[in-house]
Amino acid sequence: MNLEGKFYYKGEVIEGAIEIEDGKIKRIKKSLSGAKRIKGLILPGAIDLHVHFREPGYEEKEDFYTGTLSAAFGGVTFVMDMPNTAPPVKDIASFQDKLRRVAPKANVDFSLYFMLGENAEILKGINPAFKLYMGETTNAEGGEIRSVENAFISVHAELNECIRKDSKDLKDHDVARPESCEVRAVRKLLGRGKYHIAHVSSIDTVDICKAGGFTCEVTPHHLFLHRDMPIGTYGKVNPPLRAKWMAEKLWEELVNGRIDIVASDHAPHTIEEKEQEFSAAPAGIPEVETYVPIFMYLMKIGKISLHRAMEILMQRPAELVGVKKGKIEEGYDADLIAFNLSDIRKIRAKDLHYKCGWTPYEGFNAIFPHTVIVRGETIVDNYELANERTGKFVRVLGNKF
Ligand code: DOR
Ligand code: ZN
Repeated sequence: MNLEGKFYYKGEVIEGAIEIEDGKIKRIKKSLSGAKRIKGLILPGAIDLHVHFREPGYEEKEDFYTGTLSAAFGGVTFVMDMPNTAPPVKDIASFQDKLRRVAPKANVDFSLYFMLGENAEILKGINPAFKLYMGETTNAEGGEIRSVENAFISVHAELNECIRKDSKDLKDHDVARPESCEVRAVRKLLGRGKYHIAHVSSIDTVDICKAGGFTCEVTPHHLFLHRDMPIGTYGKVNPPLRAKWMAEKLWEELVNGRIDIVASDHAPHTIEEKEQEFSAAPAGIPEVETYVPIFMYLMKIGKISLHRAMEILMQRPAELVGVKKGKIEEGYDADLIAFNLSDIRKIRAKDLHYKCGWTPYEGFNAIFPHTVIVRGETIVDNYELANERTGKFVRVLGNKF
């Protein structure tokens, strides 16, 4: 399939044609006869290095089909799924079992993390992507610090020694798992290896990441939500939502280039679970379908440049793990999303594809992609599902960036 239209190419929006062969972009041309015209603005598909699609073990919250369906409708064409499932992905058998279950359900391309443990050197040969939980959080206990050369290690930086578990509301949750705890955790990593710090919730953490030569990500919830919102357990997440001023500062750090990427940390729980009293409700927020559309809206109204949005949502995340995605250039996978930037819609939980059925972004403005293409296959066409289960497992390269 060949396409033509307006697209982002090497820092500029150009009018041209994209020649696609075997799912890859073969050539960028001025025009191509017989090419299919795509309306609006065409961008590379977004890359989300941090999702929890809950399979196996917690399919009541999400499964790989609904998770990757939500990703597709939100313009995310490649996801990396976290290993805090049941059983956790910590050896070859659990990895192969998960891959066997989820691959037939994938609507977008995906990769899988291992828990970082003593067998990391062997597992690195299968896929050099690890999660290091330094402290306990939902379905994870926290383990000792390890490092592995040439592997991508995403770190949950909180320590059991500075966490209190009986928080009563969002403000108290912030106090119970303070910013200082995250800062302390990241400090412990200094000089120990190369790490990627997941979901930074404090600008002090960003400073230490920079000093340590680490890369870092921020979540949509730490940018767009804060602890004084009336959302109760639906805003309970680890690390916690902070004060509004901190969310604004993190936005500045993202726009000015000190935070590398945005990753959703899509972590759904059922309404039933979230309706429990605060201390009993599990932490985590569903995000994968809404964050790119919110960014597109913010880009449209001038809060962030198209260039910077491309870097943090597509190019840099792909580079961090070494996948040939995230750019519309020769040799890259033909993962494309297209937007009508005048079609601003209000986010409604009922329009989303999550199994959990809720979102904390109800009523937020967003611009959803009307077309989503993964390796040349149209998955979403005119906002409707056009093709399913064509996603493939992608082995990452590690941190050779
Ligand atoms: O709030 C969180 N939820 N933080 C995590 O680290 C895990 C996640 C989950 O899996 O629910
Ligand atoms: Zn997470």
